Amino acid sequence: MNKWHHLAQQEIIGLHTKVPLLQGGQTRYINLDNAATTPPLRTVTRAVLSFLPWYSSVHRGFGYKSQLSTELYARARQLVLNFFGADPRKYTALFVKNTSEGLNKLAHRLPVSREEVLSSWMEHHSNDLPWRLRKQARFIELTPEGTLDLGDLETKLKTSHPRIRLITVCGASNVTGVVNPLQTITELAHYYGAELAVDAAQLAPHFPMKLAGPRGAIDYLALSAHKMYAPFGTGVLIGPHAAFRTGIPDEVGGGTVLACSREQVIFAPPPERDEAGTPNLIGAYALAVALQWFAQHDLASLARHEDQLTRYAFSRLQTVPGLVLYGPSPDRYPRIGVISFNMEGIPHGLVAAYLSFEAGIGVRHGCFCARPYVHHLLRLTKAEISFYENLARAGKKCELPGMVRISFGFYNTREEIDLLIDALKTLRAEEKQIKNRYRIDPVTGEYLPTTGRVKMFIAQHAADLFKLRT
Ligand code: ALA
Repeated sequence: MNKWHHLAQQEIIGLHTKVPLLQGGQTRYINLDNAATTPPLRTVTRAVLSFLPWYSSVHRGFGYKSQLSTELYARARQLVLNFFGADPRKYTALFVKNTSEGLNKLAHRLPVSREEVLSSWMEHHSNDLPWRLRKQARFIELTPEGTLDLGDLETKLKTSHPRIRLITVCGASNVTGVVNPLQTITELAHYYGAELAVDAAQLAPHFPMKLAGPRGAIDYLALSAHKMYAPFGTGVLIGPHAAFRTGIPDEVGGGTVLACSREQVIFAPPPERDEAGTPNLIGAYALAVALQWFAQHDLASLARHEDQLTRYAFSRLQTVPGLVLYGPSPDRYPRIGVISFNMEGIPHGLVAAYLSFEAGIGVRHGCFCARPYVHHLLRLTKAEISFYENLARAGKKCELPGMVRISFGFYNTREEIDLLIDALKTLRAEEKQIKNRYRIDPVTGEYLPTTGRVKMFIAQHAADLFKLRT
């Protein structure tokens, strides 16, 4: 048993949970959907439980518990900054709900208006829509296999210089897991007078990230704790104090002002200026404990372990007849453990349903909130995209394009990958019979078994979880 398997046994809550199967009986759940959310670490939940008796209001009371809560919150912020090597004299960390909120806030708060922002066509909608809708975004093109076209980036910087104020890209894609060359992009951005924001939602949980590198420092970074084994509703936006010192915050209210009279409002300095309302102390503390855990257990070694899993999965998936993989092979291009694929002749929704209902394997399918990127990888024409958009507009979700995605955490194993491969091979071999066991729900576009057994279990299970225990 290697170090990571051993830690998984100790730390992952729900590692041995069993789920019901369509064919009867139960099996151990295999979670291959860590790019969406990770399970909690036991260290994190233990810390939260031990703090709950002391839990009180942050910044809003003077009792012992309030002062302790305020101190804990300040330390959590400090820990986040330290973890990413952000000098607290220059940077602040704003606690937000998640990466989406962080990037929306940045789009709102960037202290320039109507200047150009350069995003890319591989982004999650969170790092695309806020820029499209709030600023004049342009987008870095992609290579045919789905990596960033650095030539296009440089051309756009050269031709638009000095109008481009910000480049904003993901650290790693939530569709293909490709890792962007952040050092090169930082250097290019700064050379052409722009700043760099990184959507680190996918990269930060799997790779040691520091703001400063040999070729410059990332200016803004956003991430979500629920992808870092601390699912208590927090995310972070790190950026220079200077960027948040002026302007009107996107949300205003309690805690955001130094003074407020009938005549005027004087906003507080960052970070308070941008954290309206009572903060999510439990979330911030949970994230900080998770980061401490990562630091103790060597994120670089975790990255190597996950890289081996990814390469293993990539090569095993190639043995499944008619399976199409997207993005460059991890032998040729750095990737984290996120792999998307399709099985020829079998809808992506049916693959996901079969894995869930008959193998107890959790994956995600669809476009993963990154539609332009998925369209590119699927090589859809403009006419096809517009055809699908019309279907979506008409509420017809049945035939929408997409992929199946698996994504790893440090606790996944080769044995789990083997079980996935066996299940996919069975699906291929028994395609006809399996297809007959499912029908598509025209409203949701999901494939459901013709018998309602597992869905009934889920409804009952949810009802049970609301029964109050005394
Ligand atoms: N952004 C998350 C994902 O890719 C939710 O699944």
